[in-house]
Amino acid sequence: MLLHSISKSMSMGGRVVPSRIVYQPTESNNCTPQGCPTEITFNRYEALAAGFPGIIHIESIDVTNETQVRSNRMVLNEGNLSGFSELVRRIRAVNGQSLIIFQLSHAGRLSDPAFKAPAAVYARSDVPDIHVLSTFEVEQAREDFVACAVLSWKAGADGVDFKQAHGFLADDFLHPANNRSDQYGGSFKNRTRFFRETYHEMRRRIPDANFIIGSRISPFEGIPGGCGTAGPDEILEDLSEITAFAKLMEREGIDFINVSAGYAAANLELLLPTARYPEGVPRLFSWTKAIKQAVSIPVIGSGYSYLRDGQNNLFISEPKKKSLLAFAEYNISHGYVDLIGIGRQAIADPLFAKKVLDKRESEVNWCTACGGCGMLLGSNKPIGCTIYDPKYREILAKLNSDRSEG
Ligand SMILES: Cc1cc2nc3c(=O)[nH]c(=O)nc-3n(C[C@H](O)[C@H](O)[C@H](O)COP(=O)(O)O)c2cc1C
Ligand code: SF4
Repeated sequence: MLLHSISKSMSMGGRVVPSRIVYQPTESNNCTPQGCPTEITFNRYEALAAGFPGIIHIESIDVTNETQVRSNRMVLNEGNLSGFSELVRRIRAVNGQSLIIFQLSHAGRLSDPAFKAPAAVYARSDVPDIHVLSTFEVEQAREDFVACAVLSWKAGADGVDFKQAHGFLADDFLHPANNRSDQYGGSFKNRTRFFRETYHEMRRRIPDANFIIGSRISPFEGIPGGCGTAGPDEILEDLSEITAFAKLMEREGIDFINVSAGYAAANLELLLPTARYPEGVPRLFSWTKAIKQAVSIPVIGSGYSYLRDGQNNLFISEPKKKSLLAFAEYNISHGYVDLIGIGRQAIADPLFAKKVLDKRESEVNWCTACGGCGMLLGSNKPIGCTIYDPKYREILAKLNSDRSEG
């Protein structure tokens, strides 16, 4: 297949992305209990670096050790800084070209109570008695994000992704249902204040104008009053406010938008299309197109892995017209996206980008979208591909046998 578009470099902020294939953040639960990367983490990212994607997103990093969605995730604080500096050093020793972007996250209402009682921006009827952050605590959360962005810069990252997706804390502020009575709720201006303040404080405190700051968003979350709806009780899709937010982010100076979808506690299938839901792929592409048409900054798309080499259930007769690479070329050349985000496919085959760019497509270990890595994630186990890596196949087999015995 002729790959005109995905091999082209492009600029992002003041830096160059060497190709259009981007490895998305995928958490791997292999850190110390304090959130510091381990040798397993280093090896995983060295393997991803050997694939030479345009960008390597470092998985979701918690901005404090009280805001984790599960244990053994990454936490970036002063105590762990040397571990993150070593992570960057180990990646660059393999490959000095890919940009390294740290994804900064605060799980908010999705935090695991094992760390601290979950805290939310506003109370929803599904969990009415959750602790709602005071204005002081909101300001503290803003400071936690900013301090973590400064530490990311100190660790040597090229930039950060300020995660405002999947129902995590920063995303909760944006919801039309956010009815806080202080300056962080109610009007669109108030609901976008957390983003504006956090972003500008990151810029003010990081002394490098070329440091990239982008954001991952869920344009449609599929919950009442969530992103992509027109009001607090609405569930139908209406992208007017989220596209206005994308324009606002661009005006404020953000360097990229990474488009995902869904709300982790309610509908993972919106962000992870599978054979049961192949239409999830064109839906993700449509949301990405809507954001791309609203802004001029680089836009990263998601949801490509299920397409693989065309062996998928999309209602298109010719496999070569519905493969991952066919859609990647189509979407870039039509101006629907700039960069192709690869999640599960990079877990299945960390060398994916290199194989494709070297025209060795026949050597790719295609992700089967079997859901094995997601099952490990949901069970708080270390994560890897349960199809191509025997170590993770065994972990999954043990998990399944423990479940059937229990
Ligand atoms: C095991 C696993 C871990 C993930 N971890 C993260 C994460 O840390 N941050 C994030 O924003 N998305 C995360 N995702 C979502 C992916 O970044 C990506 O959006 C999703 O897998 C869809 O893309 P794909 O079809 O290429 O897999 C994760 C997905 C999987 C399967
Ligand atoms: S475990 Fe399954 S879904 Fe996950 S990367 Fe491997 S093949 Fe893909």
